[in-house]
Amino acid sequence: MTARIAGIGICVPENIITNDDLAKIVDTNDEWIRSRTGICERRISTEDGTSALAAKAAKKALEAAGVSPEEIDILILGTSSPDYNYPSGACEVQAAIGAVNAVAFDISAACAGFIFAMEIVQGFFQAGIYKTALIIGSETLSKVTDWSDRGTCVLFGDGAGAAVLKADEKGIIDMMMGSDGTKGPVLACQSRTLGNFLTGTKPEIGFMTMDGQEVFRFAVKKVPESVEILLKKTGIPKEEIKYYVLHQANERIIEAAAKRLKEPMDKFPMSISRYGNTSTASIPLLLNEMVEHGMLEPGDKIVMSGFGAGMTWGAVLLEW
Ligand code: COA
Repeated sequence: MTARIAGIGICVPENIITNDDLAKIVDTNDEWIRSRTGICERRISTEDGTSALAAKAAKKALEAAGVSPEEIDILILGTSSPDYNYPSGACEVQAAIGAVNAVAFDISAACAGFIFAMEIVQGFFQAGIYKTALIIGSETLSKVTDWSDRGTCVLFGDGAGAAVLKADEKGIIDMMMGSDGTKGPVLACQSRTLGNFLTGTKPEIGFMTMDGQEVFRFAVKKVPESVEILLKKTGIPKEEIKYYVLHQANERIIEAAAKRLKEPMDKFPMSISRYGNTSTASIPLLLNEMVEHGMLEPGDKIVMSGFGAGMTWGAVLLEW
């Protein structure tokens, strides 16, 4: 048995923040942001937190799949901006949607979180332990963004995407995942500084910090590399891959990946211009659009690939 995507749902906040809006709060401009990243606007949440966005996306995914909350065996939320240390966001979603029979937990794999969640589920399905899963990527990175740092604040956006996975004959063909903790400092958010009565320090809130060029170099190497590994392992030729659904971090990273893979840009759908980098939500947001636009037919082969803080990376080759 393998994991098949049975339904997708998304939720994005209503507030649209354009590049011009950001130029009013930091020294930046629309031309710089568009040309360096491909981003025109992003959504920023003022009401819903990570779990609320996740629950709304989850309900839509269940509806699309025709699956009831009680049928869910396992519920995984990938996020790097949870509302609380605990309870986990996944447990909050479980309560909100009534997935009473599910085991629920969060995973922290940053922008690779959705791919990691899918691969964890695949392991349970292959072992015959579970049959129905709900995976969600949800972020409100706006709350850990330093809104005075033009190097990061123009890049990210809030949003959530969810998918119901069912154990089936066809679906995931192969997958890979990896991490390199030595590169941790290049993209970090030290939001929980230690504090106790012995050290006399107090907990402090930290913001996201990033070495943009280092992350860029990492991504343009790892994304095509992970895709190539899967193609080689499966023996599936590039001609059979209809789309590469890549994490939406930067248009230039996607273009560089396409060039290294020697594949045409029309195989790389994008939604980054409208949402920015929504981290673990970016792949399901894009998949949802592809479904809405009728771009995917049963039998189509696609590769999904994500990378992010950790550093982490992963890819999945599946038949739709
Ligand atoms: N507006 C205007 N100027 C800006 C700016 C902004 N928002 N952010 C940075 N700059 C300036 C810099 O200060 C620098 O100025 P200087 O030359 O006077 O020092 C100049 O633009 C070039 O900065 P640099 O960092 O070299 O730009 P870049 O071409 O590397 O692009 C990123 C910066 C962040 C867009 C790019 O490195 C990137 O996308 N990296 C990957 C980040 C990512 O995807 N992170 C998430 C991974 S999941």
